[in-house]
Amino acid sequence: MATAEQLNCYDFPKGFAWGAATAAYQIEGGWDADGKGLNVWDTFTHQGGDRVFKNQTGDVACGSYTLWEEDLKCIKQLGLTYYRFSISWSRLLPDGTTGFINQKGIDYYNKVINSLLENNIIPVVTLYHFDLPQAVEDQGGWNCEKTIEIFNHYAQFCYETFGDRVKFWITINEPHVVAKLGYEEGLFAPGKKEPGLGAYRAAHNMLKAHAKAWHTYKNDFKNKQKGFVSIAIDSDWAEPYDPNSEKDKEATERYLSFYVGWFAKPIFVDGDYPEIMKTVVSKRSKAQGLQTSRLPEFTNEEKNMIKGTADFFCLNYYTSRKIRHCTSSADESSCTSDIAAERIKDPDWPECGVEWLAVVPWGLRKLLAYIKDTFGNPTIYITENGFAQNESPVIKDVQRWTYFQETLTEILKAIRLDDVDVKGYFCWCLLDNFEWISGFSVRFGLFHVDFDNAELPRTPYHSAIEYSKIVKRNALTGPGETVASLNN
Ligand code: GAL
Repeated sequence: MATAEQLNCYDFPKGFAWGAATAAYQIEGGWDADGKGLNVWDTFTHQGGDRVFKNQTGDVACGSYTLWEEDLKCIKQLGLTYYRFSISWSRLLPDGTTGFINQKGIDYYNKVINSLLENNIIPVVTLYHFDLPQAVEDQGGWNCEKTIEIFNHYAQFCYETFGDRVKFWITINEPHVVAKLGYEEGLFAPGKKEPGLGAYRAAHNMLKAHAKAWHTYKNDFKNKQKGFVSIAIDSDWAEPYDPNSEKDKEATERYLSFYVGWFAKPIFVDGDYPEIMKTVVSKRSKAQGLQTSRLPEFTNEEKNMIKGTADFFCLNYYTSRKIRHCTSSADESSCTSDIAAERIKDPDWPECGVEWLAVVPWGLRKLLAYIKDTFGNPTIYITENGFAQNESPVIKDVQRWTYFQETLTEILKAIRLDDVDVKGYFCWCLLDNFEWISGFSVRFGLFHVDFDNAELPRTPYHSAIEYSKIVKRNALTGPGETVASLNN
């Protein structure tokens, strides 16, 4: 394999996808405009109760539902070749089903898709990014098997309606987050707290829903539309706290298996959960006097249905952790206690505007290599990565741009030195937006949004201007510029 110096360039591979990502609930606003139905985040935020920073909501957010042309200007200013956004399911299908179709919703997404294509920007569409229609949640949401079929109909409807132009589909964004925060810890909508059961059940149904929607595309659309379908999987990178401790090494393996492995192993390897996960949860369930494991099992038919249902790997990476083994008492029932691993932020790692996000660019390179080795060397798109500022953002975000540069350097190393097939990078996020329970206090945007101004003006950060240069030349450095060596 050639080293970077031999290749003598900081170029990205030809045709590398340069993107930015957003999600409907975080940017659109228009929560009840033109017949949109309620989704779980509308309900969750409207209930108040200080679960979200200052009880803020996404009712208005960046106003993208009416200000799409402003977003398009930002995308064009960056020179992006791809744009990842999500469809608000309940804007299209107010009660989640095709029983009633909201034409205004179709019109909005047609406008977005068509104007992207007119500008040679390839749309990457996420079908579901945390905002399950409330009507679907009312029937059990991801706790309930029925949702698999409802999701499949929704996916089918989207392929039919937009698939002549959309060729990149992501079924579900971060099922790990939905399962754990939405159905186990109750921190995210729909706010369900069912420790030790809820997350496993929700994840099980999401995996089946994803697989079903992938097959629907393959069987009924692929020949004609020639597109691709995947799922966005998030994960930390993790390393043992004490590299000489066997216990910490095992805990690290457990941590990664319960994180990226939970979804990637079934989809990319063999249709089933990681062995470690199955063993640990079953052992602990037994010790708790349960007849069956709290981790549901797939039938052989289901395993065959799930295996191989992603046309590439969509990875969302933000941070890393050092992992220390810990013990959890037998009667504690939760995903976290099943993992029995303490997550530690190395105090040497810089933090950005959000407490959980320790900045560890090299963790991405390691995670990419791990994915290559563990999940069959898939083609990988990094569908989210970013660094936040806090409530008092600076437009000249020089330090944040350094983090981006370091991250892009690590991606180049992964491509050039580790031979990982990375085909694209999507920065999170195009715009400052409603950052879930942190509300507007955390700013991930390449463009600043002035939420105090009713017109919600967008202004490029320094990072946006620098990112656009990289996008334009498809290379990390311009003439005469240097960055860290790519050699190790
Ligand atoms: C991801 C999520 C995004 C965004 C980002 C930053 O988990 O998909 O919607 O909020 O984190 O926290």
